[in-house]
Amino acid sequence: MQPASRAVGGSTSAPPLPRRPLALVTGASMGIGAELARVLAERGHDLVLTARSEDLLRELSSELEVLGARTHVLPLDLAAEGAVAVLVAWLHEQGLEVDVLVNNAGFGTHGPTLEAPSERERAMLQLLVQVPVDLTRALVPAMRARGSGRILQVASTASFQPCPGYALYAASKSALLSWSNALHHELRGSGVTCTTLCPGPTATAFLATAGHRPSGLQRRTMMTARRVAELGVRGMERGRPTTIPGLFNRLGALLATRLPRTWATATAGALLRNRD
Ligand SMILES: NC(=O)c1ccc[n+]([C@@H]2O[C@H](COP(=O)([O-])OP(=O)(O)OC[C@H]3O[C@@H](n4cnc5c(N)ncnc54)[C@H](OP(=O)(O)O)[C@@H]3O)[C@@H](O)[C@H]2O)c1
Repeated sequence: MQPASRAVGGSTSAPPLPRRPLALVTGASMGIGAELARVLAERGHDLVLTARSEDLLRELSSELEVLGARTHVLPLDLAAEGAVAVLVAWLHEQGLEVDVLVNNAGFGTHGPTLEAPSERERAMLQLLVQVPVDLTRALVPAMRARGSGRILQVASTASFQPCPGYALYAASKSALLSWSNALHHELRGSGVTCTTLCPGPTATAFLATAGHRPSGLQRRTMMTARRVAELGVRGMERGRPTTIPGLFNRLGALLATRLPRTWATATAGALLRNRD
């Protein structure tokens, strides 16, 4: 059984959210995002679900409605030009005020960084950094005006050191963690908190999409998306700046930030090689 997560750094108390708060989850069609939506619905939230796969979103929406959640579905390619503006305009049209923003949508590219297709790398950078920043900037002012709100950014243990094999992915997740921790600090006293969830290897479609064949150790220490989601929501509800789910991942993050950077980089590169 995986141990409970340990939050990193001090938390900021946030006032309780409305009786049926509305949570927007990006990348909700599968994996960690779908589990985050399930956990939030079980905890009394209504949901806005977005990703590209409309059928999967509608299936999840029906499942969550049975749990008593009101759901809204918007199929959207968030990496496309102007996608955040489309999403924000749609929320206004529907009269939806978001209390909880979960920036989860993402994918990784695996392999030598100079050989990665540049179009795909650009889309990844957009989805992992610019989209969460733009969505957060668009939705936080109303949360501040109401004096309550929560943001959950899904980063990674790749945020803590350079990762040969996942070079730009790890750099993107580092940028998201750094920006989000700074934002959490700037929001102190506003009633709004920004928590960054840093999962390690998790059993979803992520690795197959990235073209990464994991090692036996990675397979053995892989967490379920459900457990990651439960611990992420718990960290967010406690107003933590950072939450790393699982003892193994916390130890890895601790080592990565204590070792000389060249050693941490070489270790990550060795661990993240493709295995047969
Ligand atoms: N699994 C891991 O080992 C792991 C570890 C650390 C961090 N993470 C992070 O966790 C987050 C979720 O990944 P996951 O593991 O749950 O992978 P996943 O099962 O592949 O899910 C990725 C989600 O992102 C959505 N998405 C991808 N491209 C999109 C686009 N252009 N526009 C809108 N939505 C898009 C996908 O939906 P559609 O395909 O329907 O658009 C899907 O819902 C990512 O940010 C990832 O970096 C994962």
